[in-house]
Amino acid sequence: MTDPRLTDLVQAVPALRLKTEPSDLEHYGRDWTRRWTPAPLAIALPGTVEEVQAVVRWASQHGVAVVPSGGRTGLSGGAVAANGELVLSLERMNRVLDFNAVDRTLTVQAGIALEAVHNTARDHGLAYPVDFASRGSCSIGGNIATNAGGIRVIRYGNTREWIAGMKVVTGTGELLDLNRGLIKNSSGYDLRHLMIASEGTLGIVVEASLRLTDPAPASNVMLLALPSFEVLMQVFSAFRERLQLQAFEFFTDRALHHVLAHGAQKPFEEMHPYYVVTEFASGDEVQEAAAMAAFEACMDSGWVSDGVVSQSDAQAAQLWRLREAITEALAPYKPYKNDVSVRISAMPAFLEETQQLLGKAYPHFEVVWFGHIGDGNLHINVLKPDDMDNAEFVGQCEQVTTLLAASLQKHEGSISAEHGIGLVKKGYLESTRSAAEIEVMRGIKRVLDPQGILNPGKLFDV
Ligand code: MLT
Ligand code: ZN
Repeated sequence: MTDPRLTDLVQAVPALRLKTEPSDLEHYGRDWTRRWTPAPLAIALPGTVEEVQAVVRWASQHGVAVVPSGGRTGLSGGAVAANGELVLSLERMNRVLDFNAVDRTLTVQAGIALEAVHNTARDHGLAYPVDFASRGSCSIGGNIATNAGGIRVIRYGNTREWIAGMKVVTGTGELLDLNRGLIKNSSGYDLRHLMIASEGTLGIVVEASLRLTDPAPASNVMLLALPSFEVLMQVFSAFRERLQLQAFEFFTDRALHHVLAHGAQKPFEEMHPYYVVTEFASGDEVQEAAAMAAFEACMDSGWVSDGVVSQSDAQAAQLWRLREAITEALAPYKPYKNDVSVRISAMPAFLEETQQLLGKAYPHFEVVWFGHIGDGNLHINVLKPDDMDNAEFVGQCEQVTTLLAASLQKHEGSISAEHGIGLVKKGYLESTRSAAEIEVMRGIKRVLDPQGILNPGKLFDV
């Protein structure tokens, strides 16, 4: 360890665990985007809040940029360290600190995995309802940094709805204890919400108090086959009218093709162009009859061509796998990811326009559509042809993203629904946020991170 700044860090925080091996720099310096070559200065793994504060103070003195790091499952480059930054991993700070049965809150350190939160909540007879495929590896701190959504937003909302309080270390090393679990608190600016989705640019979340809720009602999962894209929103309305939906997700035949090649089981004899996985409360005969009524109404209208309902938990998991395994199945193709949203009411017009736009713009690339259609959130993944250089591929995709961003602006949507802006969508932030808004964001950053050391270059340039 020859860098004098690191020698100074070890002196300033003697108990700090520090990693500088090339394999560690590579591992901790990237997220799931794999677009940038990791090149951090070192990896700091603090074990306490005080150590986090001390590291930030050291970084501030030495002008070293700090990249907060959770499970690094992000898809926007938000946790990438490619410019000599210090990666501050919350990996060791992964404990449950408190369960309060009266408040129905679980207080955790930020490095805990989402799945561990699910399991702990379940052990207490309650539930933490935010959920998505990377649950085993992603961390609560990362979920907060991106306001992560996932597969049950339609019923439970995003991460934001479930944060009762949090402790955050700002760019000056100050510790803020925000909202302290209060349900009602009308005492000025809610800095907690400012931190949520700030992608580590305003502070490092070190602890969070999570709201828990009743366990989900007994539910069923149904897989539907659709003959065309145009009927998607009608099917959604038909189901939403009659059922208490927990999830309403869609994917195309291309997505299914890749998931099947990845080991999933074929759901129907024939292939269909579009599919929906929906989960809904189904604990009694009335709800079961309503589900059948929704299905039959869609069949009668010609909006659905086939369907299957789960008969067991194992079958429900099998149907979910068809949707949840898409990201993993596509990963080897280095997909260029779009994660866009519009209001549900704007969805039909936006879908039509986007289909036309991408049909023309991407004639030579394989485009895979899927997403949380019930939330107005589409994932459009463009797969890199084997023989194309990555930089050339990304360059071509970016030209199309410029057009997509213009369409989103017209439909008043967002260039990032749930993955964050990070590095990947920084160039398109103006399509979603006005110049005045971005200027306010810059001002807020200057207050909380005056030296500009917290995750610089992510979200926007200062
Ligand atoms: C998903 O919905 O599966 C995730 O957001 C991940 C992805 O878009 O690949
Ligand atoms: Zn998603």
